[in-house]
Amino acid sequence: MITNTEIATRGNQFPNHIVDFKQENDKIYFTTQNGVILQVTILRDSAVRFRYATEYVFEPDFSYAISDDVNLGYNELIVEDEIPEYVITTSKLKIYINKTNLKVQIVDMEDVILAEDELGFHWEENFDYGGNVVKMSKVCHSGESYYGMGDKASHTNLKGKRVNNWVTDSYAYGKDQEPLYKSIPFYIGLKENKAYGIFFDNSFSTYFDFAAEKRNVTSFWADGGEMNYYFFYGPKMYNVVESYTDLTGVPELPPLWALGFHQSKWSYYPEKKVKDIASKFRELNIPCDAIYLDIDYMEGFRCFTWDNKHFPNPKKMIEELEEDGFKTITMIDPGIKIDRDYWVYQQAMDNGFFCRRADGPHFKGKVWPGECKFPDFTNPKVREWWADLYKEMIADLGVSGVWNDMNEPAIMEVPSKTANLDVRHDYDGHPCSHRKAHNVYGMQMVRATYEGVKKFMFPKRPFVLTRAAYAGTQRYCATWTGDNVATWEHLWIANVQMQRMCMSGYSFVGSDIGGFAEQPNGELFARWMQLAVFHPFCRVHSSGDHGDQEPWSFGDEITDIVREFIELRYQLLPYLYTMFYNYIKEGFPMLQSLVFYDQEDHQTHFRTDEFIFGKQMLVCPVQEPNSHGRRMYFPKGNWYNYWTDELTEGGVERWVSAEIHRVPLFIKEGAMIPKYPVQQYVGEKEIEKLALDVYFKEGTENSQVYEDHQEGYDYKKGRYSLRRFKLTGKENELIIQQFKDGNFITPYNNFIITFHGLPFTIEMVELDNEEVDLNDIKLNGNNSIEVGKDFTELHIFGK
Ligand code: GLC
Repeated sequence: MITNTEIATRGNQFPNHIVDFKQENDKIYFTTQNGVILQVTILRDSAVRFRYATEYVFEPDFSYAISDDVNLGYNELIVEDEIPEYVITTSKLKIYINKTNLKVQIVDMEDVILAEDELGFHWEENFDYGGNVVKMSKVCHSGESYYGMGDKASHTNLKGKRVNNWVTDSYAYGKDQEPLYKSIPFYIGLKENKAYGIFFDNSFSTYFDFAAEKRNVTSFWADGGEMNYYFFYGPKMYNVVESYTDLTGVPELPPLWALGFHQSKWSYYPEKKVKDIASKFRELNIPCDAIYLDIDYMEGFRCFTWDNKHFPNPKKMIEELEEDGFKTITMIDPGIKIDRDYWVYQQAMDNGFFCRRADGPHFKGKVWPGECKFPDFTNPKVREWWADLYKEMIADLGVSGVWNDMNEPAIMEVPSKTANLDVRHDYDGHPCSHRKAHNVYGMQMVRATYEGVKKFMFPKRPFVLTRAAYAGTQRYCATWTGDNVATWEHLWIANVQMQRMCMSGYSFVGSDIGGFAEQPNGELFARWMQLAVFHPFCRVHSSGDHGDQEPWSFGDEITDIVREFIELRYQLLPYLYTMFYNYIKEGFPMLQSLVFYDQEDHQTHFRTDEFIFGKQMLVCPVQEPNSHGRRMYFPKGNWYNYWTDELTEGGVERWVSAEIHRVPLFIKEGAMIPKYPVQQYVGEKEIEKLALDVYFKEGTENSQVYEDHQEGYDYKKGRYSLRRFKLTGKENELIIQQFKDGNFITPYNNFIITFHGLPFTIEMVELDNEEVDLNDIKLNGNNSIEVGKDFTELHIFGK
């Protein structure tokens, strides 16, 4: 972007010619005659950081986004002084730095341009606040597409859009509305079938213009701070997302119950209401693992207190819920009520933990409890104190998870919806104003919450949920997409938001199923559930003032449909858990847009509705009322209809029937999908047999099943079970090889293997080269067999 901002007094300034160059190991510095320094850091052969200083001075190098366990290391680094540019070469990239204007061009080893500066780095001095508005503009090549950017409620491909990252309480937001609750300044570019990524690690308000202002320019800029961005090369989108996710981190495994179904409402109270809701789930046999207490459980909305009238004995209630298989999750907001008799307020006052305005007074803002003050979570001492506040709730009362809300922070009755920009923050020893700390405020709050919940849950795993987030927040907690609306358009939005978040390194994400504001009808609720059981975090939540929103609130037909889909989710728990494992092991997003699945197929570049769940399931929600089905695109490959086993050859758009009780759901051929029996909650049943649904393919396909104790940290010491299956199908044969890692002993002894699409009749079966009696393996028609879990090779012969 070149357009001068309103605060401009001197207009855009540009670097001029390079007068100095030096290399210090992985860092290369280029200094221009007018005082700009470009620091290029090689992180990996395909990951490079670019930082620019003006007036010869870099800011202290500090970021909340970057994980402590980044994989660094490259194979090659050569820097050459050529005319007219410097050339930096790694084993994957060549970076040209122009000597006359500092512009950067990045190409791959085939000399295909991946990214090139248009105006490149430029800046305006910020007259009002000091420092610079820092800007970068790059050429947008024809046919280039853009993805990622966190929770944007827009088409998956962002070409032609301008977005802003300034975490904002956006009640009942609409399609394309900006800004929303999260700031994840990371995008994936796709050009000539090659993917690259850019992460602009700047916590000020940032803007991205994807060829909106000018057809052939993509630019990004920030209200302050440094031009500091990371470039990741693919060529596959997977490589880009993996690299970004490695840089900004992944969470630990959640307890398995957190992947079950959760029920919430603003608000379930008093205690009897909570218990009635819980009993109703059991009575109607609708699986559910968690129930939420929204703000009304507190005494006058004071965090870390209980309303004794409505909840006379929370410990007992929580215990009884637990006995019935329910985990209790409570809400905690950042605003602390100004009340001299309230211990949390007193402690924060005594220790100087509240944020102050520029001239000294405390920052005050209105939230649910009335006038509040706000802890400065960017101060490590405040985070430590905050973490310890959870002791009673978690260790003594038995709450299993915490939900941090309003942590943008959201402030009522002010046009900015948030704190004043002059509010001061510690920023971990780099004092600054709210302009810089705003986007990380919620992240630092939930980080402190995570530390506390983890400490007091030990040896169990914590579950924490946040509304506000900056890049890297995924290390601490799950997230949801805030206050959506019960409309069909919002069902579409939920679908794109989840895909986008997953592809932006943040997989543990869900929407308020059915919509938070307003009330869905049964059809919308059922269609939403048919989508959301395929989202990593699966929770119904809605605001209080317009009717019930439980699975049984819309009549028997809808209750039955909803039950069936929640049951499907519980059956798929081992598949979901394996997805989570792949996410934290490889940075593999739990959901992927079709473009991620097959970027070479240009039909996928503008698809929004269809997505891949895990690695082998294709889902396409029905997003219109009164539908009997819909058209959808099948990516290349062959896909089995989950409901009918009918096979579709991909690379086509087709009509798929989906009456109200069905969602278009397809399995990749060759897949082996693990399933548990339906349980009313995780751990209700001991898993006696693992079901494996095998979808025949002529050719090979790999599948995995990850399992562990479902709780605790033993998995980190090798107590896990990772089964990798290689399926090879031939005209008259099917071979399944199993490779096993880890030393967790799964509770079951046998697999029930069910065949789909087997093109022959089973004649003979060998287990590890020994023929077995077909009665011993309970061959059932041609459909299923039961075999011991420890084979290395299962060989099926047919005719
Ligand atoms: C916010 C949250 C919503 C919650 C409500 C009351 O609007 O986004 O989920 O129910 O506050 O706490």
